[in-house]
Amino acid sequence: MSNKDQLYLAGERSTGADVRTQNVTAALSVANVVKSSLGPIGLDKMLVDDVGEVTITNDGATILNQLEVEHPAARVLVQLSEMQDKEVGDGTTSVVILAAEMLKRAHELVKNSIHPTSVMAGYRMAMKESIKFIKGELAVKTGTLGRDVAFNVARTTLSSKIFGRESDFFANLAVDSMQLVKETDPTSGKARYPVKSVGIIKQHGGSAKDSQLIQGYCMLGGRAAQGMPRTVKAAKIALLDIDLRKTKMAMGVQVIVTDPKKLEDIRQRESDITKERIQMLINAGANVILTTKGIDDMALKYFVEAGAIAVRRCKKEDLRRIAKLTGGTLMITLADMEGNESFDASMLGQAEEVIEERICDDDHLVIKGGMNTKSCCVLLRGANMHMLDEVERSLHDALCAVKRTLESASVVPGGGCVEAALSIYLEDFATTLGSREQLAIAEFAEAMLVIPKQLAVNAAKDATDIVAKLRSNHNAAQTDKAQAELKYTGLDCITGNIQNNLAAGIIEPALSKVKMIQFATEAAITVLRIDDMIKLHPEEQQQ
Ligand SMILES: Nc1ncnc2c1ncn2[C@@H]1O[C@H](COP(=O)(O)OP(=O)(O)OP(=O)(O)O)[C@@H](O)[C@H]1O
Ligand SMILES: [Mg+2]
Repeated sequence: MSNKDQLYLAGERSTGADVRTQNVTAALSVANVVKSSLGPIGLDKMLVDDVGEVTITNDGATILNQLEVEHPAARVLVQLSEMQDKEVGDGTTSVVILAAEMLKRAHELVKNSIHPTSVMAGYRMAMKESIKFIKGELAVKTGTLGRDVAFNVARTTLSSKIFGRESDFFANLAVDSMQLVKETDPTSGKARYPVKSVGIIKQHGGSAKDSQLIQGYCMLGGRAAQGMPRTVKAAKIALLDIDLRKTKMAMGVQVIVTDPKKLEDIRQRESDITKERIQMLINAGANVILTTKGIDDMALKYFVEAGAIAVRRCKKEDLRRIAKLTGGTLMITLADMEGNESFDASMLGQAEEVIEERICDDDHLVIKGGMNTKSCCVLLRGANMHMLDEVERSLHDALCAVKRTLESASVVPGGGCVEAALSIYLEDFATTLGSREQLAIAEFAEAMLVIPKQLAVNAAKDATDIVAKLRSNHNAAQTDKAQAELKYTGLDCITGNIQNNLAAGIIEPALSKVKMIQFATEAAITVLRIDDMIKLHPEEQQQ
C-alpha cells in the first residue's frame, strides 16, 4: 500500500498489514538460520566473511553477529541475541527462536482482527506470570551450593558445543577457574565472580584435553635479557607506556653544533636520560618493569644489575588488566607538574610473585597473588585456530552460566522442562481471564513449546510425540499434588528419554531462563508495535 499522494516522500512507505508481514518474515528468516544449532545435538555453522575469514560456531550471538542483516526488524532480533549474550552469556539461540515464534503467532492474531495493543498487553501479562511461575514453582534454591550443581550447569551449557564429548573436562575447568576468582564484596558481604578475571590464552597444538588452568594472570612475553631472574618474589611492578630506548631528538628539531667535542656530550646525554629514568624506577623499588614500547639492549644491563625483570612490547590490554589486578597505575609519562621527571612508589603494583614460565614453546609471564583482585588463566589447546576460537566462546558461555548459578543460587531443569511447564500453566491461566488478552496468552503458551519441539527435531526424534509426553507429565504435576515430582520432567536429547532432568543434572541457571523470556517478549513487542515503515532513498550526491 503506498500513499505517495498523501504525503510526499523521497522514499517508500508501507503501512499496516504490509509492514507487519514484512517484519515477521524477516524475523522468521533470522530464526531459521540459528534454529538447527539449538541443543546438544545441534549442528554448527560455517561463516565466511568478505575477506575470506572463516568462523565455525554454534553460538547464536556469534552467528547472527557475522551475518550482515539489513532488514531493520531482523536487526532487532540480532540485537536481542547480543543483549542476551551480554547480560547472561548463554541462551542466545533460544531467545531468538522464541521471539520469532511469538511474533509469528502474534501476527496470526492480528490478521484475525485482534488489535495489536491487546496482543501486546496479553504478552506482557503472560511474561509476568511466567516469571512468577518460574521463580515460585520451578526454580530450585541451591542454598548449600554443592560443587556438583555448578558443574552440572557448566556441563549442560557445554554439551551443545563443539567438544560435546569432553564437556566434563571443560566443565571442571570452568568451575575451578570461577572458584579461583571468587571475591567478596566488602559492603554487602556477597560473593562475586567476575568473568573478566579469567583470562583465556590459546595455543594451537596438542589436544583439547591438554588445556590447563594456570593460577595467576598470564601474559605472552618473556624477559628481555637472559641475565634477569626467572622469578621475583614480593614483586613491585612498574607499568609503563614509555619508551626506554635512547632518547632521540624529536623530528624536525635542528641543533647546530660548532664544537665537535659537544657532539659527544649530546650523545652521552641522550643515553643518560634513559639511564636516569631507569634509575628512577629502580630507586622507587620496582623489580618488575613492563612496558608497551621498546627497551634498548644497552639499557638492559641496568635491570640485570638490579636483579629486576623487564619485559618489552607488552600489550596495552594486558597492562591495563595487570594494573587492575595489582593496584598499580599505567604511566604514559614520567613528567610531573613542574616539568621535571619523577616516579612515585605509589604507582607500583604489587604481587606475591612474578614468574617467567615456558608454556607450549612460548615464554609467558605469570603474575600470582595480585594485591587487589584475584585472577587465573585458562590455557586452551586444540588442533586449529577455528576450533580454539569456538572453544573460547563456549568456555565463556560456561563461565557466565557458572557465575549466574553461584551468584543467584537458583537453577531450573533444562531440556524443554520450563517451557513445557509454562505452556500448561499459561493455558490454565488464560482460561481464568475473561478479557481479550486471553487469546494472546494462549498463543504465548503455545509459542513456548517451540523450544522442546526444536530440541527434539534437532535430535532426530519425533517432536509431536515428545511434546505430547512432556505436556501430559506437566499437566499431571500441576493438577495432582501427589505427582508434583513430575514438574522436573524434561527431554534428554542424547538418549531421547523423557526424564527427571533435575536428578539427571541437566540444569540451567534460573536467571538465564527468566531473562530469555523477558528479552524475547520485549523484542516481539518492539517489532509488533511497528505499523508504519518509511524508508528514505539515499540522497543523491551532487557532483
Ligand atoms: N542433554 C540435554 N538434553 C536435552 N536438552 C538439553 C541438554 N543439554 C542442554 N539442553 C538444552 O539445550 C538448550 C541450549 O542449547 P544451546 O546451548 O545450543 O543454545 P543456547 O544456550 O540457547 O544458545 P548459545 O549456547 O548458542 O548461546 C537449552 O534449552 C537446554 O535446556
Ligand atoms: Mg548454550
